[in-house]
Amino acid sequence: MIDILDRVRNKELRSRIVTAEEAAAYIKPNMTVATSGFTPSGYPKAVPTALAKRMEKEPFKINLFTGASTGAEEDGELARVKGIHKRMPYQTNKEMRNQINSGEIDYIDMHLSESAQFVRYGYMGGGIDVAIVEACAITEDGNIIPTTSMGNTASYVQQADVVIVEVNVTQPLELEGIHDVYVPLDPPHRLPIPITKPHDRIGTPYIPCSLDKIKYIVPCDVKDHTRPLGEIDDNARRMSANIIELLNAEIKAGRMPENLLPLQSGVGNVANAVIHGFVESDLKDLSVYTEVIQDGMFDLIDAGKLNFASGTSLSPSPEGLERFYKNIKEYRKHIMLRPQEISNSPEVARRLGVIAMNTAIECDIYGNVNSTHIMGSKMMNGIGGSGDFARNAYLTIFCTASTAKGGAISSIVPFCSHIDHTEHDVDIIVTEQGLADVRGMAPRERAKTIIEKCAHPDFKPMLLDYFERADAMTKHAHTPTLLPEALSWHQRFLETGTMKK
Ligand code: COA
Repeated sequence: MIDILDRVRNKELRSRIVTAEEAAAYIKPNMTVATSGFTPSGYPKAVPTALAKRMEKEPFKINLFTGASTGAEEDGELARVKGIHKRMPYQTNKEMRNQINSGEIDYIDMHLSESAQFVRYGYMGGGIDVAIVEACAITEDGNIIPTTSMGNTASYVQQADVVIVEVNVTQPLELEGIHDVYVPLDPPHRLPIPITKPHDRIGTPYIPCSLDKIKYIVPCDVKDHTRPLGEIDDNARRMSANIIELLNAEIKAGRMPENLLPLQSGVGNVANAVIHGFVESDLKDLSVYTEVIQDGMFDLIDAGKLNFASGTSLSPSPEGLERFYKNIKEYRKHIMLRPQEISNSPEVARRLGVIAMNTAIECDIYGNVNSTHIMGSKMMNGIGGSGDFARNAYLTIFCTASTAKGGAISSIVPFCSHIDHTEHDVDIIVTEQGLADVRGMAPRERAKTIIEKCAHPDFKPMLLDYFERADAMTKHAHTPTLLPEALSWHQRFLETGTMKK
């Protein structure tokens, strides 16, 4: 068996070390299981894999709550054996997505900052039967040192009947001290979250847990299977350049300090490319108050441009993870991992004046944004933290390529087929075509600006034609909309394979 004795610092606890199969046997059909993990970082690997093997022989389902998406050994394996009934709050796994879109999994897509308090408030049914948590080590008192993500783990440990800890020997002990664990009290006792700067430390470096709550301890030596990042393409480079030009103009106009305000950047390739663009800019002394810390942030730290990054998870590519581990002593001076309730806190984002940069699937001419659904019905990933930041940021930016599926789809549409962020939340829309700054604009002005600056030339005349007819037919109403046509572009795509006429 893998030796974890030096990582289980309490001698009495060592008698609870068992195999993954023994721990997985504790989980019964219909239990609610909550785990650590946020993106493929810091999620349990041994117990979910053993559980999936068991489900293969004796099929049953559980409800699965996490921080966000997790890796192949958890979301992938449990979806493969059709072992999930209810899932929340975010996912990115292809097989799971298929089951969500064929009615096999009931998926609750929610603001990530709210998911822990939903459990604490008792909104999620019968509480949590088991929490499975990846740890670097367990302290003398039973407290848990998390690994590469914080997510909802602290609240899940607090709320669970029992806790299974996976001690992962591939996670370096130098991670101890990088976490700042703070679980707010619930109303009417909640206090202000005392963060006024991204680096403010307000909690403990461990997840509080009592000795008697830990049921089993399982050794694990499987690494985080993080996702590779794609090449930064020309579209992403142009969007990044458009954003940096805007931010420089904000500094010139006196609306932002020379070193900007704390940056928040979403998941995925475009977001990473945008952050990478900052490396090549003249901007310096930057700070980050965000959800996920991707490779671009390591680039910024290495370039001496980023003073501090607060997030809930490291979300690097496999090479990025190796790079982090190799230079962990230096990176940990600049990085802190907090519960997602704090990293994504609306209260803190509003106070710090975060610059929120997230990705849209589509935007409409009035500035509503769809981040989650394809053609109105099919779930892609989920809203994640985009809504936590979008409504509360100092400046809210959404990026999207102007077309999708080889040019058959316009990402700027008459009306979004699903809305996650309303026109009231959105300040700036960026495509590779240009940037629409719709701050201070009424809907008819917004429509003209978004079409002019962001639409692809193939779709611009169609969008203008729609808007002009809508404006005339509604007699210049506040938000001109032709009801029979508003979603006709999506319908045309479903029927003909293109939004073009
Ligand atoms: N209509 C239909 N499909 C579209 C589309 C559109 N307007 N725009 C993109 N797509 C498809 C792409 O073709 C691609 O499909 P594929 O998987 O079949 O290849 C898929 O959507 C993903 O698009 P991609 O261009 O690869 O974007 P991405 O990897 O940058 O992801 C989001 C974009 C919106 C899906 C992703 O950022 C997300 O899940 N966001 C919500 C959560 C979030 O913002 N989290 C961060 C908060 S801190």
